[in-house]
Amino acid sequence: MAGGLSIERVDACFGAHVHGVSIAEIDAGTFGEIRELLTEYALLVFPGQHVTLDQQNHFAARFGHLEFPAAAITNIAPDGSVLDDQSHDTVKSIRGNEGWHHDSTYMPVQAFGAVVTAEVVPPDRAPTGFADMRAAFEALDVAAQERLRAMTAKHSLYYSQGRSGYLPTQRDDGTYAMYGYHDKETPVRPLVKVHPDTGRENLLIGRHAHEIAGMESAESEAFLDELNDWACGDDRVHYHQWEVGDLVVWDNRRLMHRATEFDLTNPRRIWHTRIAGDPSTEAADNHRAVS
Ligand SMILES: [Fe+2]
Repeated sequence: MAGGLSIERVDACFGAHVHGVSIAEIDAGTFGEIRELLTEYALLVFPGQHVTLDQQNHFAARFGHLEFPAAAITNIAPDGSVLDDQSHDTVKSIRGNEGWHHDSTYMPVQAFGAVVTAEVVPPDRAPTGFADMRAAFEALDVAAQERLRAMTAKHSLYYSQGRSGYLPTQRDDGTYAMYGYHDKETPVRPLVKVHPDTGRENLLIGRHAHEIAGMESAESEAFLDELNDWACGDDRVHYHQWEVGDLVVWDNRRLMHRATEFDLTNPRRIWHTRIAGDPSTEAADNHRAVS
């Protein structure tokens, strides 16, 4: 117990379910406890919250500025129909997210984390996977840690969605209308990053990372594929099985996450509020001056 909160660890080296609190009604003291729990566990699941989108955004904004307010991640079209056409831009975005990643590493400032709620859950639950990049780094031998500390990589949605075959439809001028396809310099980030709250080192990798400085593209791709696969090994991974009303918050500076494939003929809608990273610690190496 922590105050009125009760903590139930999940079966992983991170993550907890939190009971005994209504997120819509928390005071500053309870938020302070939750903020400490997030630093400790990196993934907090609050079952049965059923918050409104305003309440979700308000809770997320307690952690910091919002990169964007609640946005639907869904295969339900505005007219209510269910999108299962793999060529639809929305479906491409959903499918691309099945690769392990940190959010917004392709932006000048990567995200602090996110608050996500589940409104419509398909029969197979469409679980979301989380993987602990602090545990991964700490599991490496000293020589590998030292080698990785010296590496940087570019991060881009053009790369990750292009490689997986899920780039959205191009506009007439050759650009893309969807979030994250910016024309700024491609962010360059270290492969090992010190977490600003814990002071401990974490791998910073995932599907957006490519072109390690000083390596040939093919060599870099093979190196990162192997590192991603190893880092997201079973003992460092937890899959959350969604229930309607769940509210989840995670620390994007420590965890990677991924969507999982589900039967797209069934509707699903979750709401994602993205919490902006602090530019003083989350800006890309080549975006520090302007962020
Ligand atoms: Fe994501």
